[in-house]
Amino acid sequence: MNILLLGSGGREHALAWKLAQSPALSHLFIVPGNAGTALTGTNLNVSVNDFQALKKIVLDRHIEMVIVGPEDPLVNGIHDFFLADPEIHNVPVIGPRKKAAMLEGSKDFAKQFMIRHGIPTARYRTFDPSTVEQGIAFLSSLDPPYVLKADGLAAGKGVIICQNLADAVHELSDMLVDARFGKASHKVVVEEFLKGIELSVFILTDGINYKILPEAKDYKRIGEGDTGLNTGGMGSISPVPFADKTFMDKVESRIIRPTVEGLLADNIDYRGFIFFGLMNVGGDPYLIEYNCRLGDPETESVIPRLKNDLVHLLLSTARQHLDKETIAVDPQYAATVMLVSKGYPGFYEKGKIITGEKSITGSFIFHAGTKMRPDTMQALTNGGRVLAVTNLADTLQEALSGSYENIKKIEFEGKYFRRDIGFDLDQTF
Ligand code: AMP
Ligand code: GLY
Repeated sequence: MNILLLGSGGREHALAWKLAQSPALSHLFIVPGNAGTALTGTNLNVSVNDFQALKKIVLDRHIEMVIVGPEDPLVNGIHDFFLADPEIHNVPVIGPRKKAAMLEGSKDFAKQFMIRHGIPTARYRTFDPSTVEQGIAFLSSLDPPYVLKADGLAAGKGVIICQNLADAVHELSDMLVDARFGKASHKVVVEEFLKGIELSVFILTDGINYKILPEAKDYKRIGEGDTGLNTGGMGSISPVPFADKTFMDKVESRIIRPTVEGLLADNIDYRGFIFFGLMNVGGDPYLIEYNCRLGDPETESVIPRLKNDLVHLLLSTARQHLDKETIAVDPQYAATVMLVSKGYPGFYEKGKIITGEKSITGSFIFHAGTKMRPDTMQALTNGGRVLAVTNLADTLQEALSGSYENIKKIEFEGKYFRRDIGFDLDQTF
């Protein structure tokens, strides 16, 4: 079958690489893709939010399944667009409909859902420009630090953590009154700070059944020791050593199952991935956020550990047959280190020539912000996060060493990476 994959990051290259291993795949098209996905199929230079153009691709290229990588087209209603059009309504879309994508698209919607279905999460209240005073009073009732979240999508930048009350009050009015994040901060969720260690848990659900995929941990800050600005993610590891059976049983019974049952109870059809951003607070999982997609760079560690045929698994998702599937996971550790452009997550230059990435052995190279120079077929940097280097090995230490060894062989001007991925888990080394 022909498949269309939407997105252009390391997550999409990892998915494309995995899809390409399926005997069921005839041809993979990627919109817009990157220099890595071009090795697995055909990149098409169209916006993931141009639904009419995507429809034309689906008809012209005889696409039989659409897989959505990033949240944007989901929140914009791509799945509903397909369902409403008689010419393409039979083509399954992997990713939730607009209403369910609100679990990521609106923090307030997500928190209401969690509370309604008894899912453990930080205590919170939501405010708008007419309730700033109540917001300040609520902040005053909490202990520092203070967590403020723009309700809508803000490209991963909408969460602000303040160490003292004065800063929190200032930020709240900046977000609500001065519209710091535009429409996204028209509503602001204020919540208590959860102290613990984070991890990312993923499921695939067909709306009735679900399968738990390997969990992962990502490293969001630009600087070593988790310092500096937030990024899209500087590396990831999977499995997560502290996510043992006792902990994961709690995650399943307290968070995953109530979520899938809650979607059913609320009459929300959901076929796709759910990403649970969790905090382990003294051995108990709390839900920080939902994402309606896989994580990046978690996918680059998760997908290489998944042994199932991904095309088959996604077809079962579309057909609501996931109960017939068994997830098979490689017990090895995966470690992913991101190579980023100098200056990221602030200003960075693009168009730098990448060398050495083709000669790597023993690691997977997943392209993120790259593009192919058509005349020389050479990969150029084209984004902040450039390449993910993933290694599999029997121990986390060996997996990390494998990635770091191979990173030495890849060069581009301004290459930067964190040398301490996994640093907080060294009790397992
Ligand atoms: P989010 O966009 O909701 O994932 O939030 C971004 C980051 O802010 C998370 O990955 C956490 O590190 C942090 N964060 C969000 N909510 C909380 C909370 N209630 N307590 C502590 N940290 C939080
Ligand atoms: N790595 C976090 C995310 O994909 O949102």
